Amino acid sequence: MTNRFDSTVTIRRAVSSDARGIRVIGQHCLGMSWSEKTLAADLDNIGRSLYFVAVAFDQSVIGFVSCWYVLDEAEIIDLAVVSEYRRQGVAFGMMAALRAELQKLHVRFLRLEVRETNRIARLFYQRIGFDEMGYRSDYYPDTREAAMLMEQVLNEPDAGANTPPGR
Ligand SMILES: CC(C)(COP(=O)(O)OP(=O)(O)OC[C@H]1O[C@@H](n2cnc3c(N)ncnc32)[C@H](O)[C@@H]1OP(=O)(O)O)[C@@H](O)C(=O)NCCC(=O)NCCS
Repeated sequence: MTNRFDSTVTIRRAVSSDARGIRVIGQHCLGMSWSEKTLAADLDNIGRSLYFVAVAFDQSVIGFVSCWYVLDEAEIIDLAVVSEYRRQGVAFGMMAALRAELQKLHVRFLRLEVRETNRIARLFYQRIGFDEMGYRSDYYPDTREAAMLMEQVLNEPDAGANTPPGR
Protein backbone atom coordinates (compact mmCIF):
# COMPACT_ATOMS: atom_id res chain seq x y z
CA MET A 1 0.00 0.00 0.00
CA THR A 2 1.30 3.46 -0.84
CA ASN A 3 0.39 6.55 1.14
CA ARG A 4 0.59 10.27 0.60
CA PHE A 5 1.64 11.03 4.14
CA ASP A 6 5.20 11.82 5.13
CA SER A 7 7.48 8.80 5.51
CA THR A 8 8.13 9.89 9.10
CA VAL A 9 4.51 9.09 9.98
CA THR A 10 4.09 5.60 11.44
CA ILE A 11 0.93 3.62 12.08
CA ARG A 12 1.11 1.15 14.95
CA ARG A 13 -0.91 -0.52 17.72
CA ALA A 14 -1.51 1.96 20.52
CA VAL A 15 -0.08 1.41 23.99
CA SER A 16 -1.27 2.83 27.30
CA SER A 17 1.27 5.66 27.17
CA ASP A 18 -0.56 6.97 24.06
CA ALA A 19 -3.62 7.75 26.22
CA ARG A 20 -2.73 11.41 26.64
CA GLY A 21 -2.25 12.00 22.89
CA ILE A 22 -5.49 10.18 22.11
CA ARG A 23 -7.39 12.24 24.68
CA VAL A 24 -6.08 15.51 23.23
CA ILE A 25 -7.09 14.54 19.69
CA GLY A 26 -10.49 13.31 20.82
CA GLN A 27 -11.11 16.60 22.61
CA HIS A 28 -9.89 18.64 19.68
CA CYS A 29 -11.33 16.76 16.70
CA LEU A 30 -14.42 15.10 18.15
CA GLY A 31 -15.28 17.63 20.88
CA MET A 32 -15.16 14.97 23.58
CA SER A 33 -12.92 12.33 25.03
CA TRP A 34 -12.73 9.88 27.86
CA SER A 35 -10.30 10.68 30.65
CA GLU A 36 -6.69 9.62 30.26
CA LYS A 37 -7.19 7.03 33.03
CA THR A 38 -10.22 5.44 31.32
CA LEU A 39 -8.44 5.44 27.97
CA ALA A 40 -5.32 3.82 29.47
CA ALA A 41 -7.51 1.10 31.04
CA ASP A 42 -9.29 0.54 27.72
CA LEU A 43 -5.96 0.36 25.89
CA ASP A 44 -4.91 -2.40 28.27
CA ASN A 45 -8.18 -4.27 27.76
CA ILE A 46 -6.64 -6.87 25.47
CA GLY A 47 -9.24 -9.16 23.98
CA ARG A 48 -11.96 -6.54 23.89
CA SER A 49 -10.60 -3.29 22.51
CA LEU A 50 -8.20 -2.49 19.71
CA TYR A 51 -6.58 0.87 19.06
CA PHE A 52 -4.24 2.05 16.34
CA VAL A 53 -2.44 5.38 16.32
CA ALA A 54 -0.58 7.36 13.71
CA VAL A 55 2.48 9.06 15.16
CA ALA A 56 4.74 11.77 13.76
CA PHE A 57 8.55 11.72 13.75
CA ASP A 58 8.61 12.89 17.39
CA GLN A 59 6.17 10.14 18.44
CA SER A 60 3.36 12.65 18.96
CA VAL A 61 -0.04 11.13 18.18
CA ILE A 62 -1.60 12.67 15.06
CA GLY A 63 -4.52 10.28 14.66
CA PHE A 64 -6.20 7.29 16.22
CA VAL A 65 -8.93 4.74 15.70
CA SER A 66 -10.53 2.71 18.46
CA CYS A 67 -12.84 -0.26 18.34
CA TRP A 68 -14.43 -2.86 20.56
CA TYR A 69 -15.02 -6.41 19.49
CA VAL A 70 -16.91 -9.44 20.76
CA LEU A 71 -16.90 -12.78 18.94
CA ASP A 72 -17.31 -11.98 15.23
CA GLU A 73 -18.57 -8.41 15.63
CA ALA A 74 -16.68 -5.17 16.10
CA GLU A 75 -17.71 -1.55 16.42
CA ILE A 76 -15.66 1.53 15.65
CA ILE A 77 -15.80 3.79 18.69
CA ASP A 78 -13.79 6.81 17.49
CA LEU A 79 -11.69 7.86 14.54
CA ALA A 80 -9.88 11.16 14.14
CA VAL A 81 -6.87 12.71 12.44
CA VAL A 82 -5.49 16.15 13.32
CA SER A 83 -6.35 18.72 10.66
CA GLU A 84 -2.75 19.30 9.43
CA TYR A 85 -2.47 15.64 8.46
CA ARG A 86 -5.86 15.15 6.85
CA ARG A 87 -6.41 14.08 3.27
CA GLN A 88 -3.09 12.25 3.13
CA GLY A 89 -4.36 8.72 3.67
CA VAL A 90 -3.68 8.59 7.44
CA ALA A 91 -7.21 7.47 8.39
CA PHE A 92 -7.19 5.03 5.49
CA GLY A 93 -3.89 3.58 6.76
CA MET A 94 -5.16 3.22 10.32
CA MET A 95 -8.38 1.57 9.14
CA ALA A 96 -6.41 -0.84 6.93
CA ALA A 97 -4.25 -1.83 9.92
CA LEU A 98 -7.31 -2.22 12.13
CA ARG A 99 -9.20 -4.32 9.60
CA ALA A 100 -6.20 -6.60 9.02
CA GLU A 101 -5.96 -7.23 12.77
CA LEU A 102 -9.71 -7.83 13.09
CA GLN A 103 -9.55 -10.33 10.24
CA LYS A 104 -6.85 -12.23 12.11
CA LEU A 105 -9.22 -12.30 15.10
CA HIS A 106 -11.96 -13.74 12.84
CA VAL A 107 -14.17 -10.70 13.20
CA ARG A 108 -16.64 -10.62 10.35
CA PHE A 109 -18.90 -7.62 10.90
CA LEU A 110 -17.44 -4.15 11.43
CA ARG A 111 -20.04 -1.53 12.32
CA LEU A 112 -20.20 2.11 13.33
CA GLU A 113 -22.52 5.03 13.91
CA VAL A 114 -21.85 8.41 12.42
CA ARG A 115 -23.73 11.69 12.67
CA GLU A 116 -25.96 12.21 9.68
CA THR A 117 -24.49 15.70 9.27
CA ASN A 118 -20.87 14.47 9.29
CA ARG A 119 -20.61 14.48 5.51
CA ILE A 120 -16.83 14.02 5.40
CA ALA A 121 -16.80 11.00 7.71
CA ARG A 122 -19.67 9.41 5.76
CA LEU A 123 -17.78 9.95 2.50
CA PHE A 124 -14.65 8.53 4.05
CA TYR A 125 -16.38 5.39 5.32
CA GLN A 126 -18.17 4.87 2.01
CA ARG A 127 -14.88 5.31 0.18
CA ILE A 128 -13.30 2.50 2.19
CA GLY A 129 -16.17 0.09 1.60
CA PHE A 130 -18.78 0.64 4.33
CA ASP A 131 -22.46 0.50 3.41
CA GLU A 132 -25.17 2.55 5.07
CA MET A 133 -27.43 -0.02 6.72
CA GLY A 134 -29.77 1.99 8.90
CA TYR A 135 -30.85 5.28 10.34
CA ARG A 136 -31.64 6.29 13.93
CA SER A 137 -33.45 9.58 14.31
CA ASP A 138 -32.93 11.71 17.43
CA TYR A 139 -29.89 9.60 18.28
CA TYR A 140 -27.30 11.99 19.75
CA PRO A 141 -28.43 13.50 23.06
CA ASP A 142 -26.39 16.71 22.64
CA THR A 143 -27.87 17.87 19.32
CA ARG A 144 -30.69 15.34 18.75
CA GLU A 145 -29.07 14.60 15.39
CA ALA A 146 -29.76 11.37 13.58
CA ALA A 147 -27.17 8.62 13.25
CA MET A 148 -26.35 6.64 10.14
CA LEU A 149 -25.48 3.02 10.87
CA MET A 150 -22.77 1.66 8.62
CA GLU A 151 -21.36 -1.81 8.18
CA GLN A 152 -18.58 -3.59 6.37
CA VAL A 153 -18.28 -7.36 6.11
CA LEU A 154 -14.70 -8.54 6.63
CA ASN A 155 -13.04 -11.79 5.64
CA GLU A 156 -14.58 -11.82 2.21
CA PRO A 157 -12.74 -11.27 -1.04
CA ASP A 158 -13.05 -7.51 -1.46
CA ALA A 159 -10.27 -6.01 -3.49
CA GLY A 160 -11.84 -2.53 -3.18
CA ALA A 161 -11.42 -2.43 0.58
CA ASN A 162 -7.65 -2.80 0.23
CA THR A 163 -7.13 -0.33 -2.57
CA PRO A 164 -5.72 3.02 -1.40
CA PRO A 165 -8.10 5.89 -2.18
CA GLY A 166 -7.53 8.00 -5.26
CA ARG A 167 -5.18 5.57 -6.96
C1 LIG B 1 -12.90 11.58 8.77
C2 LIG B 1 -11.38 11.71 8.97
C3 LIG B 1 -10.94 10.75 10.07
C4 LIG B 1 -10.68 11.34 7.64
O1 LIG B 1 -9.27 11.33 7.87
P1 LIG B 1 -8.20 11.55 6.69
O2 LIG B 1 -6.89 11.03 7.18
O3 LIG B 1 -8.25 12.93 6.22
O4 LIG B 1 -8.79 10.59 5.55
P2 LIG B 1 -7.97 9.98 4.30
O5 LIG B 1 -6.95 10.96 3.85
O6 LIG B 1 -7.48 8.63 4.66
O7 LIG B 1 -9.13 9.91 3.21
C5 LIG B 1 -9.46 8.75 2.47
C6 LIG B 1 -10.59 9.06 1.53
O8 LIG B 1 -11.76 9.47 2.26
C7 LIG B 1 -12.46 10.51 1.53
N1 LIG B 1 -12.33 11.82 2.22
C8 LIG B 1 -11.58 12.09 3.31
N2 LIG B 1 -11.72 13.40 3.65
C9 LIG B 1 -12.55 13.94 2.73
C10 LIG B 1 -13.04 15.25 2.54
N3 LIG B 1 -12.69 16.28 3.35
N4 LIG B 1 -13.90 15.48 1.51
C11 LIG B 1 -14.25 14.47 0.68
N5 LIG B 1 -13.80 13.20 0.80
C12 LIG B 1 -12.96 12.94 1.84
C13 LIG B 1 -11.73 10.62 0.17
O9 LIG B 1 -12.31 9.66 -0.71
C14 LIG B 1 -10.32 10.21 0.58
O10 LIG B 1 -9.54 9.76 -0.54
P3 LIG B 1 -8.85 10.86 -1.52
O11 LIG B 1 -8.17 11.87 -0.63
O12 LIG B 1 -7.91 10.03 -2.33
O13 LIG B 1 -9.97 11.48 -2.30
C15 LIG B 1 -10.97 13.17 9.31
O14 LIG B 1 -11.58 14.06 8.39
C16 LIG B 1 -11.35 13.60 10.72
O15 LIG B 1 -10.60 13.41 11.68
N6 LIG B 1 -12.53 14.24 10.88
C17 LIG B 1 -12.98 14.75 12.19
C18 LIG B 1 -13.35 13.63 13.15
C19 LIG B 1 -14.48 12.78 12.61
O16 LIG B 1 -15.46 13.28 12.07
N7 LIG B 1 -14.35 11.45 12.84
C20 LIG B 1 -15.35 10.49 12.44
C21 LIG B 1 -16.29 10.29 13.58
S1 LIG B 1 -17.35 8.93 13.22
